[in-house]
Amino acid sequence: MKFIICESYEELSDLGAKIIAEQLQKKPDSVLGLATGSSPVGMYQQLIKMYQEGKIDFSKACSFNLDEYYPIANEDPNSYNYFMNDNLFNHVNFTEGSTRVPNGSVADPDLECKSYEQAVLDKGGIDLQVLGIGPNGHIGFNEPDDQLFVHTHVTGLEPATIEANARFFESAESVPTKAITMGMGLIMQAKKILLLISGKSKKDVFEQLKNGMVTPQNPASFLLLHPDVTTIVCL
Ligand code: F6R
Repeated sequence: MKFIICESYEELSDLGAKIIAEQLQKKPDSVLGLATGSSPVGMYQQLIKMYQEGKIDFSKACSFNLDEYYPIANEDPNSYNYFMNDNLFNHVNFTEGSTRVPNGSVADPDLECKSYEQAVLDKGGIDLQVLGIGPNGHIGFNEPDDQLFVHTHVTGLEPATIEANARFFESAESVPTKAITMGMGLIMQAKKILLLISGKSKKDVFEQLKNGMVTPQNPASFLLLHPDVTTIVCL
């Protein structure tokens, strides 16, 4: 794992956007894995700016997001579907149908998990996976536990995650208690990973990564086993 320490969130965002731009220059039809949350917002803004300046082209690329709350309507402003449209997809030139976020409004979430995972595999897996990290080390909604899921699955959310996400909802009680998330398998099979560690609350988990120990109690620590992870840090 390569660590790049930044002085500011702007620097983190610029560097992250450059890595995505380089990926699309090298392979215009890249399969991108994308994340929501506060960490990538500045990077997405930077990508929009680059697109407006004609420096990046998403027309041949496709994307799969890590996760979505369940149950939630796609048009709900707190859904990750809405977040991605609002923060990136509505402002750049991905073609219709080339971006996918798990559907939190389906009747059968297990079926959605299977079809989502298969769709990623049918594309040959993810070329560049963007990740944020929870203060407890979660990636996607893979929460610390004795065992971690390999495949895309429905999961209950940890109280700490509900609390961390409550800022986006009216109250902690209105945060959905479940989510659909990629498992560790699709993430670890990505050819390249870009991990954004942003915010003071991530200091302990960052120290744990630097210590180089792998444990399911810190799901992000599995990334230490991946051959191509760039971690951009701004605490
Ligand atoms: C989001 C996701 C989450 C976040 C993590 C960090 O799609 O999968 O794992 O990346 O909770 O969130 P922020 O960036 O808001 O600190």
